[in-house]
Formats: sequence, C-alpha cells, structure tokens
Amino acid sequence: MQIELLVNGRIHRVDTDLERSLLNVLREDLDLTGTKYGCGEGECGACTVLLDGQPARSCLTPANAAAGKPITTIEGLEKDGALHPLQQAFLDADALQCGYCTSGMILAGAALLQKNSSPQPDDIIHAMQGNICRCGTYPRIIHAIQSAAASMKRGEHV
Ligand code: FES
Ligand code: FES
Repeated sequence: MQIELLVNGRIHRVDTDLERSLLNVLREDLDLTGTKYGCGEGECGACTVLLDGQPARSCLTPANAAAGKPITTIEGLEKDGALHPLQQAFLDADALQCGYCTSGMILAGAALLQKNSSPQPDDIIHAMQGNICRCGTYPRIIHAIQSAAASMKRGEHV
C-alpha cells in the first residue's frame, strides 16, 4: 500500500506493507538513520520520535498508523542550520558517550520542555524513565535538559 508520511515538514509517499514499523520506514526508505533500533520491543527508547508532538516508540508504531500525522525525527529539530537548544546543550554538557540513546533522549527531552519549561531533576527522571542509556550518562543528560530550559527562557534559541 502507498502511504503519505509527513516527516520533518516534508511529505513522503512510501510503498509499504501493513506490518512494517515506522522505524524501518524512516531508516530504510527515507534514510533518516538518526532514529536508532535498540530493543525493537518498546523497552529502550532509542527509536523515539515525536508523533503529533508526543514521544512515540517508532519500533512499535506501524508506519500506516503514522500516516498524515506530523512526525519529527532528530534530523528535523535544527532550524535554518542552527541546532535545537537541546542538541546544543547535549554537546555542551558532553551528555553522551556512545551516542546510541541520544536522539531518543533529545526527542523525549524536547517533548518534556514543551510541557514543562523549568523541569526539576525529578520531573526529568519521571518523564524520561522509558529511555535507557547503557553508558550511564544520566546525570549529564539531566544537566543538559535543565541547561537547555534555561537557555530557552533567556531567549537564546527558538
Ligand atoms: S528500539 Fe524502540 S523502544 Fe527500543
Ligand atoms: S550514550 Fe551510550 S547508550 Fe547512552
């Protein structure tokens, strides 16, 4: 079947079958490989994208269920060549080691900041508990999210 996916503001027409996950279509058909395959079972958060503004596990989301809804991947967060404040904060705080969890962390963090502009560490831990970092960079991730929140409040970024 052919479906239309609205990814990072662009419409893509994709031929796929009903069983294929959004993750597979993003990575294999659209070459958006920033979204990672971790567990494939909804347990790690490496495949997190924003679907209609909400964090979604793209490994468990059938591609056809995402048709017509806005999808944001890590590639779509920057604007006009400038990194999203959270991307910049992760770099500044060195909040990654292998980087495998990072795109999912950043998208989950971006969704959190849309709801809570001044998250406390407990808020971040609660909101991000489904995102696993095997390298254990959690303290720096929390720092990066708080630092991005502060910089967004100061109006340094969009
Ligand atoms: S790959 Fe989707 S939650 Fe782990
Ligand atoms: S930086 Fe390696 S899994 Fe998080």
